[in-house]
Amino acid sequence: MKIIHAKDYADMSRKAANIISAQVILKPDCILGLATGSTPIGAYQQLIKWYEKGDVDFAQVSTYNLDEYRGLSHDDPQSYHFFMRDNFFNHINIDLSRTHVPDGSNTDAAAACAEYDRMVAAAGYPDLQLLGIGNNGHIGFNEPDDHFSAGTHCVDLTESTIEANSRLFDNIDDVPRQAYTMGVQTIMYARMIVIAASGEKKAQAVRDMCFGPVTPSCPASILQLHTNCVVVADEAALSLCPEA
Ligand code: GLP
Repeated sequence: MKIIHAKDYADMSRKAANIISAQVILKPDCILGLATGSTPIGAYQQLIKWYEKGDVDFAQVSTYNLDEYRGLSHDDPQSYHFFMRDNFFNHINIDLSRTHVPDGSNTDAAAACAEYDRMVAAAGYPDLQLLGIGNNGHIGFNEPDDHFSAGTHCVDLTESTIEANSRLFDNIDDVPRQAYTMGVQTIMYARMIVIAASGEKKAQAVRDMCFGPVTPSCPASILQLHTNCVVVADEAALSLCPEA
């Protein structure tokens, strides 16, 4: 793992965006694995600015998102389909038919997950996978468990994740209890991983990810075994990692 120190959220966002734009410039028809949550929004905003300046072109890029809530339609403002269009895709020249998010509107979990796995595999897996990290060390929606997951699957969200994500909903009871997520094995197939973290709330998870044992009780810890993983974290997120 390579740890890149950022000063704060804005600096983390610029550094993550720099790596993503380099990927797109080097390989214009690359496959990006993308994430939702508050963490990547700043990087998406930076990429939009560079697109507007003519510095980066998304015309040939394909994307595969990590996860989606089960049971939400694509147009539900709380869905990750909506999030991606609203925060990124609607502001760049990406071909929407090349963007993919697990189909949360298909409540047949086995069918929805198998179809997503088939598509990601057929595409050849991401050249670069962008990740955030949950307060409990989750990646995508792969929650702490007694084993690492393989392909796309349906998960029951933990209370801590439901609570953390409830800030984006009117009411905690509106937060879906289940989601479809790419599995840890699929995430590990990406040729490069960029995991971004900002803020004190992520400090323990970042410590466990980078310096703890590799264990499914901190799903992000498996990234220690990836041969090309970059952690872009700000001072607060690295505050429990004096050795970093
Ligand atoms: C959600 C997403 C994750 C994300 C995590 C952290 O659970 N499924 O992909 O990394 O939240 O979110 P945030 O970046 O808002 O802290």
